Amino acid sequence: MSDILSALHTDHRHIHKLMRLLGQQTALLASGNDPDWDLVIDILNYMAQYPDACHHPREEQIFNHFRQRYKNSDLDETIERLAREHRELPPATIELRNQVESIREGAAILTRDELASSLNDYIAQQHNHIATEENRLFPVVEHRLTADDLKILEATLPEQQDPVFGSVTEQQFEALYRRILEGDEGDEKRP
Ligand SMILES: [Fe+2]
Repeated sequence: MSDILSALHTDHRHIHKLMRLLGQQTALLASGNDPDWDLVIDILNYMAQYPDACHHPREEQIFNHFRQRYKNSDLDETIERLAREHRELPPATIELRNQVESIREGAAILTRDELASSLNDYIAQQHNHIATEENRLFPVVEHRLTADDLKILEATLPEQQDPVFGSVTEQQFEALYRRILEGDEGDEKRP
């Protein structure tokens, strides 16, 4: 797999880990217990800061490049759907974080059950989105983009600096990173 797609695939693996953690906390909430609110907020902050702000724009650029090279391909509809989701996911993350904060502070604008349901919808949306990219798009993009395409993309893609899984974990995400390590029994440790 090319370095570009391999990096996106690694991001997806990380998002899956975070959605698993978020799912565990959502299950606590749905069963009437208090989740670890800080952990939930950290996950949503990460989603806003990295996947929404950096990972999706990189994919957009790759998919747009693909569309310019292969006009009217059978992937047009899928690419349009993914682009729509890339526009919808960032505000969904922010809205969800606001809902979580309002429940935590007792200024609830929705019930705990409604929040659990919103969190589960969000998790399902992330899984579906990634599954479409990984199963429908990445294999074709990988197969059709030439070495020259990859060179152009490598030179023009926006920088990516993952604040949790990158070479340096930002201080605000240290606690989140530790929780991920505990869940993985260390398989995400850096070299
Ligand atoms: Fe993605």
